[in-house]
Amino acid sequence: KGLFTYDPGFVSTAACESQITYIDGDQGILLHRGYPIEQLAEKSDYLEVCYLLLNGELPTPEQNKAFHNTISNHTMVHEQLSQFFKGFRRDAHPMAIMCGVVGALSAFYHDSLDINNAHHREVCAYRLIAKMPTLAAMCYKYSIGQPFMYPRNDRSYADNFLRMMFATPCSDYEVSPVLARAMDRIFTLHADHEQNASTSTVRLAGSSGANPFACIAAGIAALWGPAHGGANEAVLTMLEEIGDESNIPEFIARAKDPEDSFRLMGFGHRVYRNFDPRAKVMKKTCDEVLAELGIENDPLLKIAKRLEQIALEDEYFVKRQLYPNVDFYSGIILKAIGIPTNMFTVIFALSRTIGWISHWNEFHSSPNRIGRPRQLYTGYTQRDYPADR
Ligand code: CMC
Repeated sequence: KGLFTYDPGFVSTAACESQITYIDGDQGILLHRGYPIEQLAEKSDYLEVCYLLLNGELPTPEQNKAFHNTISNHTMVHEQLSQFFKGFRRDAHPMAIMCGVVGALSAFYHDSLDINNAHHREVCAYRLIAKMPTLAAMCYKYSIGQPFMYPRNDRSYADNFLRMMFATPCSDYEVSPVLARAMDRIFTLHADHEQNASTSTVRLAGSSGANPFACIAAGIAALWGPAHGGANEAVLTMLEEIGDESNIPEFIARAKDPEDSFRLMGFGHRVYRNFDPRAKVMKKTCDEVLAELGIENDPLLKIAKRLEQIALEDEYFVKRQLYPNVDFYSGIILKAIGIPTNMFTVIFALSRTIGWISHWNEFHSSPNRIGRPRQLYTGYTQRDYPADR
């Protein structure tokens, strides 16, 4: 026994060195390559943040243009890949489809899967960043029985995604700049978050030498759970279940009851013990979107704001330092844009792909070895197989 450090949940174990993202959970600070998330959300767009996370520096205007062009060149998926969707039931959860189709991308790019080749790694990253919106929108279109829409490379990343979601061959979809900006901000706020469960999964899968598409599929699977990326879907389901401000005390009481497994979704974070800086930007964006759409009195927003207020004053939450996290307000924005609840975690996966692939690339760009956690064995000591069997 005493040979290993026992750290269930990896509360105090650093599994790697990284130069990508810094979090100070006590101060509520999140930096990507040194830049505060608030400044990036205000001044950059998502693709610029992708470039920063991947390359370490903000792009010059020329680099930015070239990067946008490169991503645009890779937005289509192979026609054969669209056949994969037909293998799924139409009511399949889109995250189930994403796990399958993203992993399947590795079957299409044998020519660039050498993980020791920096150029191959770069091209895989471009393909993933570019194809995730296309695949995500295909999941939605498949679920409602509409034809897939091809990407439009003359549009911005967020605008193109919304168009692939909501246009049809019979009617184009004009994306409001406010909504496109809000979508872009949601992508940016979810872009990376150092060694969370899904990123650690991608690094661990990558440490065995698995190809990047398979590693990202593993990340999508890890993200799906409600304690992680599935929380955005769970928040909206919870707000709808609460239904009316008068029911909030009942849900607060349930969250505090040690006998009840119910938790206030969108509250709490392993690292942030003060506030989640992403949640502040998200809340502001939420107000902007609802004002743009003229639905400031959205009943779910009212419930969310009241719930936040009550929880922030309640001794249980204060003592445990439980604050709204990034996903508390994102669902309200996505719903207002018209995105169905079961697509919320897919959008998180789309956004986080840049974080996953940047960490995967960082792992392979530096000296590394396979990840192999140990355990404290608590089972039987050696015993003989029963003689009478
Ligand atoms: N509602 C009620 N009680 C809570 C909550 C909550 N949302 N979160 C934690 N607690 C309590 C928990 O019961 C425990 O109480 P006690 O000390 O009396 O046993 C204490 O707070 C510490 O909880 P923990 O489970 O040890 O904390 P953790 O760091 O392991 O879990 C968490 C972090 C995010 C999984 C958890 O806070 C949670 O389940 N939150 C709800 C789900 C959620 O919103 N997840 C999204 C996280 S942000 C997006 C992302 O990065 O994935």
